[in-house]
Amino acid sequence: MTINIAIVPVAGLGTSVLPLTKSQPKEMLAVGRKPVVQYVVEELASNGIERILFITAQGKSSIAAHFDIDENLIQYLRETGRETNLSELAFERQDIEYFYTRQRRQLGLGHAVLCAEPLIGKEPAVVALGDSIIGRHASSSIVSRMIDTFETEKADAVIALEPVAPRDVDQYGIVAVNDPSLDCLQITGAIEKPTTSEAPSNLSIAARYVFSPAIYDALENTTTDRNGNLQLTDAISNLIDQGANVLGVKLSPDVKRYDIGNFDSYFKTFLEFTLTDPEFGIEMQSYVRDYLGQQAEQK
Ligand code: UTP
Repeated sequence: MTINIAIVPVAGLGTSVLPLTKSQPKEMLAVGRKPVVQYVVEELASNGIERILFITAQGKSSIAAHFDIDENLIQYLRETGRETNLSELAFERQDIEYFYTRQRRQLGLGHAVLCAEPLIGKEPAVVALGDSIIGRHASSSIVSRMIDTFETEKADAVIALEPVAPRDVDQYGIVAVNDPSLDCLQITGAIEKPTTSEAPSNLSIAARYVFSPAIYDALENTTTDRNGNLQLTDAISNLIDQGANVLGVKLSPDVKRYDIGNFDSYFKTFLEFTLTDPEFGIEMQSYVRDYLGQQAEQK
């Protein structure tokens, strides 16, 4: 049976985008028309995922509410003839089963993934970060490609990779690979947020993973970082040290990872999705052009 389950961690505190996240989950921040986590779920659904286990936490209940079927709202929209609005709720009826468990203390992404173990058991699973969209408007097939690679290459883990500018390596998990020119890469090391001189390459871990259950043992045997967080990248490094077959699949050159976990990236993502909105994109582009033109004239 092919992999059809994904773990979606959404339990982080999101302190980098305070005060936006003081009383709302960062995964519910709007990007254009939709909250980030809806793009993540739509991407997973279009890549064959049928079951999603959210790793959630205190203050995150609006995420579960977003994926509920809201009969009252549907009835109200029907009665008032708002068919267009009704079509915006089609995502509620995606063929996905939702499960939820809670990470009761925010001890890092690795710890969040470990919270899935009692429920996932011996099945391999996708991990998709709930604060990162892959591909503009979530139009990416990377997860299907990763699942194919995992199965055909009998891998223990497959990781999505995106090249980043050398000055940005300190914001990401970075991998070492044998031959960076290949499409399917053998990963030989992984390091979380290295300095430019420490970084073994410019290939960053791009928020999507496929793991065999071996990841849970690796997580249990990984020491926490100096802030007491259990890092998923450190557990991947452990897996590699134990001789596991850990592979990387690069995002296609026309596909980007949009991480909304910091303001710089969130603003750029919001702008790009708005400028390419099917209904308002053209108008938004002309608004931005006029605005920039006026600013230039005033200088
Ligand atoms: P980040 O690594 O950006 O962590 O999360 P964070 O804690 O939310 O952010 P800051 O540093 O406080 O700003 C990447 C993904 O992993 C989840 C987050 O919800 C996000 O979707 N995560 C992170 C957890 O589920 N649990 C954690 O303990 C940490």
